[in-house]
Amino acid sequence: MLVPISSLALFFTIIFSLQLSTTCLAESSTVIAWKKLYKRPSAIPQPEYNKSTPERIQLGKMLFFDPRLSGSNWISCATCHNPGLSWGDGLAKGFGHGMKQLSRRTPTLLNLAWGELMFWDGRASSLEEQALGPLQNENEMNAPHADMQKKLTVQQYYKPYFDKAYPSEGMNEDTLTKAIATFERSIISSASPFDRWINGTQNAISKEAKHGFEIFNGKGKCSSCHTGWRFTDDGFHDIGIADSDIGRGSILPDIPALKFAFKTPTLRNIDHRAPYMHNGSEFDLDDVIDLYNRGGRVRRETVAEQIRPLELNQNEKDDLISFLKTLTSKDKEIAAPMLPR
Ligand code: HEC
Ligand code: HEC
Repeated sequence: MLVPISSLALFFTIIFSLQLSTTCLAESSTVIAWKKLYKRPSAIPQPEYNKSTPERIQLGKMLFFDPRLSGSNWISCATCHNPGLSWGDGLAKGFGHGMKQLSRRTPTLLNLAWGELMFWDGRASSLEEQALGPLQNENEMNAPHADMQKKLTVQQYYKPYFDKAYPSEGMNEDTLTKAIATFERSIISSASPFDRWINGTQNAISKEAKHGFEIFNGKGKCSSCHTGWRFTDDGFHDIGIADSDIGRGSILPDIPALKFAFKTPTLRNIDHRAPYMHNGSEFDLDDVIDLYNRGGRVRRETVAEQIRPLELNQNEKDDLISFLKTLTSKDKEIAAPMLPR
């Protein structure tokens, strides 16, 4: 049977455009879902009892950088949470009072205003509650409660700042931790190439990075835990790291599944924070991807079900890393403040 060329052409045009429109539709609904899921929030959350003011941020920043709060007068929060090292210390495990090595890696402080539980094992429930931990810990800043009251009394030069920041509350441990927490809530990563792409600038990230993002949400199963604009579910999981530290398991020993579980870290500015994991056991991002591709370093009952060999080829691994790098923003440099004297 002879079919006229024109009707064949018409047939293929219809099939082709049908296909085209379904792929476009499929793509756009995924992109719409992604836009919703990964969109940056417009306001910073703040607790009713400790609203942010410029005076509180300024006071908190001075306290954060002040080594005189420590038992040795030598260590400040910024010693370990260094803004130049993405608010970490660049070490697998940092050093505290008396050069004692700590048992876990120093985490970043980026975007914690949105965080739910603090520490790798979630043992503090707010930034206010968290701040007393390192101050009093004998291995970190070693300034117990009584010492801190004394230090604040001796350091009268802080008084005018407390009077302005917390006029009716006075200068005490409570307002000290509130001020530090307010400063911490101001530590936010700015928009990165990924955000520009999610907002519609097609060429803000490379073809490889876009493919990497598909793997992140698909074959890699990464987004089942690293989700939302901060790329964390604020949950606790065992991802098969070889270590005897049981993490969240020591806080909630009655829940067997939490043995070896640690908080899912944010992936914002992630390429500035090697080495990785709660114990700094992964040297760089290649190693992290290798860990996931093997389905963890160890097998045990508690390892999350998503942690299974992924069978990613070299291209897919490279593209995943290209995507991770699009989460890095150029943030304003933070200079250490002048301390009151
Ligand atoms: C000697 C190093 C060191 C000093 C000094 C230090 N930290 Fe930390 N910080 C750490 C380590 C290590 C952890 C993780 C500990 C853990 O999870 O068990 C941590 C955890 C945190 C967390 C939790 C972050 C998260 O994602 O859960 C916050 C917030 C924090 N520190 C703020 C501070 C503040 C505020 C100060 C000063 C008052 C301070 N740190 C002083 C090393 C330090
Ligand atoms: C089951 C939940 C889960 C899945 C799935 C998952 N992660 Fe993680 N990720 C975590 C947890 C929890 C940690 C911290 C573990 C620890 O330190 O013990 C982590 C750590 C990381 C780190 C290191 C962050 C840091 O600051 O140390 C990177 C990078 C990372 N994951 C990327 C990925 C990528 C890429 C994928 C997909 C291939 C992925 N994750 C899949 C939960 C998950």
